[in-house]
Amino acid sequence: MSIKKVLLSSVLILSPLAVAAEDLTIGFSQIGSESGWRAAETTVTKQQAEDRGITLKFADAQQKQENQISALRSFIAQGVDAILIAPVVATGWDGVLEEAKDADIPVILLDRTVDASDDLYLTAVTSDLVHEGEVAGQWLVDETAGAQCRIVELQGTTGSSPAIDRKTGFGNAIAGHDNLEIVRSQTGDFTRSQGKVVMESFLKAEGGENICALYAHNDDMAVGAIQAIKEAGLKPGEDIKIVAIDAVPDAHLAIAAGEMNATIELTPNMAGPALDALEAIWKTAQSLQVDPDRKPPLYRS
Ligand code: AHR
Repeated sequence: MSIKKVLLSSVLILSPLAVAAEDLTIGFSQIGSESGWRAAETTVTKQQAEDRGITLKFADAQQKQENQISALRSFIAQGVDAILIAPVVATGWDGVLEEAKDADIPVILLDRTVDASDDLYLTAVTSDLVHEGEVAGQWLVDETAGAQCRIVELQGTTGSSPAIDRKTGFGNAIAGHDNLEIVRSQTGDFTRSQGKVVMESFLKAEGGENICALYAHNDDMAVGAIQAIKEAGLKPGEDIKIVAIDAVPDAHLAIAAGEMNATIELTPNMAGPALDALEAIWKTAQSLQVDPDRKPPLYRS
């Protein structure tokens, strides 16, 4: 039941409404399953909805923005009560977010941000992506302790907010440390397979003995790169230090095996706080009992 419907009903029957979570349907546009972390976020989101009795319509975009835009349009046509979206890239969302706003359907961004006016979505539940890069960079500053180090970087999906922000954060942390230099930087699209392919090209171009450290924007790319390093006859974690982000189980295993050095933990539970926010707003709307023509307080104007 939409907030608009709640407000209308509350005026008509002039009594407090009891809209249960079971009456609510939420659309979730997920990027895909490019990484272990992403798969965990999908699992957690489905579980959070189930625990609250919310019906979740799930759409896997297979890493394509056009599929996400189609999914959002379909959710809007179906009249869902709210939309969660993990946006694959940062730009190109204004049109479809306008459509959701016009339909009074609140949109919450999960784990990534967009370059759109913040009056086009209700809120964003994300981590501090720049800070994650800074923590990774600071780890390497401390680890190298002034020794010369040529770094290769595996970036996330081009144009995605974590790829942009994690690069910025790492750059912030190593700025002013002349011993640290990023000699190669390329996207591995947040996948294990591309992480391996791109690391192979780094090793070929630079020579493994000339690479001191790998910074990967997520663990899956690091795990793919570990394979490439081993196949090149080098010891990952020793010959080439490796720091990444996510803290998925495979990264813990690699660290335990001495093949990776550090990972920055990122919770996959973005949906919990997002659904808390929606439930708080729905409860407020139910208790308002206001003029049905008044726009509910979903968007900043
Ligand atoms: O947006 C979060 C990032 O996206 C995760 O670090 C990565 O694994 C995922 O694909």
